[in-house]
Amino acid sequence: MEPTDKITYTKSIAPLTTLGVGGFAHAYVQVTDDQDFLPVCTFAQREQLPIFPLGGGSNTLALEAGYQGLLLHVCTKGIHLEDVSRTLSRLTVAAGELLDDTVAYAVERGLWGLENFSHIPGTTGAAPVQNVGAYGVEMKDVIEYVTVFDMHTYTFKQFTREACLFAYRDSVFKTKEGKRYIITSVTFLLSKAAAPKIMYKDLQAFFAADNALPTLPQIRAAIIQIRSEKFPNWHEVGTAGSFFKNPIITKTHFETLKSKYPDLPGFSMGEHEIKVSLGYILDKILGLRGYTEGKVRLFEKQALVLVAQRGAQSSEVQSFARKIISKVFDATQIQVEMEVTLLESRK
Ligand code: EPU
Repeated sequence: MEPTDKITYTKSIAPLTTLGVGGFAHAYVQVTDDQDFLPVCTFAQREQLPIFPLGGGSNTLALEAGYQGLLLHVCTKGIHLEDVSRTLSRLTVAAGELLDDTVAYAVERGLWGLENFSHIPGTTGAAPVQNVGAYGVEMKDVIEYVTVFDMHTYTFKQFTREACLFAYRDSVFKTKEGKRYIITSVTFLLSKAAAPKIMYKDLQAFFAADNALPTLPQIRAAIIQIRSEKFPNWHEVGTAGSFFKNPIITKTHFETLKSKYPDLPGFSMGEHEIKVSLGYILDKILGLRGYTEGKVRLFEKQALVLVAQRGAQSSEVQSFARKIISKVFDATQIQVEMEVTLLESRK
């Protein structure tokens, strides 16, 4: 069967995302082999269809209007482990592998670096796009390089960690220029020697009573427990984890807010900027934890997490989000940005 024979039309997008909202994609295809990117992209070019690459759909908000192009579902599989030195291993993972399966694979083999990403939904290939971060670690800390398919030249290409231009929830793949690439695999450099990263507040508290350093399986188990207490189960309700980014503001702005709200958590991002906890602002300053409008709400255990009940419309989610953004602005003069990506034309 030719890869283009697998293209179907009028595909419902909602079940392909963890938020579970949105309309139909004009065309849809599952890519299960790296060799398929070329014929599928050639087809889309011929039909003048824009392409939107989709992974696990756990950070994607689809619109009611759907997508008037080809939704390219990256479903490639395969993990390759290579010995680099006495202390390092290289793990190359196909983009369609679930990130949590990649984490479990590394933990089972005693390789350090990915354990703090335990139970994050979504695929491995999507993780570098927004430099996924959790519990004090970001993708940029473990990635050696990212392999992509270039939709302009129809060739594969590698981006070193530096070329990925990683920043807080950001990378080259979120820029206009970077949207010509589909990530096809991710290569991690992992440590064979114990390297626990347990400085994040919740992890420190979890291991506070222990004298010995935690093992890899213990850290994975701790993260899974901490997450299960803070995040809704995305198999049961519509959610995309943190719906908004933690805002980065100037030091002066932070000092002004601090004088009014002394407990506002802030983390230095270089000399002049501070990243503030939006969850704290929504909860402790605005009292919006659990705030509900119709079928949409801010999660009662973590205000940065938006929950869309079954049957919610994408437009309800968007107007709810706009309302939250304006409430935060009115109280703090902070312009909040969404962390989720809109499934819309990338041109
Ligand atoms: N807080 C509250 N009330 C709330 C939520 C948070 O007071 O309802 C306070 C917490 O007590 C804490 C601070 O705000 O002092 C930060 O909260 P938390 O540690 O839960 O982390 P977060 O900033 O809300 C970020 C990431 C998450 C990641 C966690 C843990 C972003 C946008 N979110 O959340 O990432 O799992 O840290 O590392 O950076 C995601 O990107 O989808 C995601 C879930």
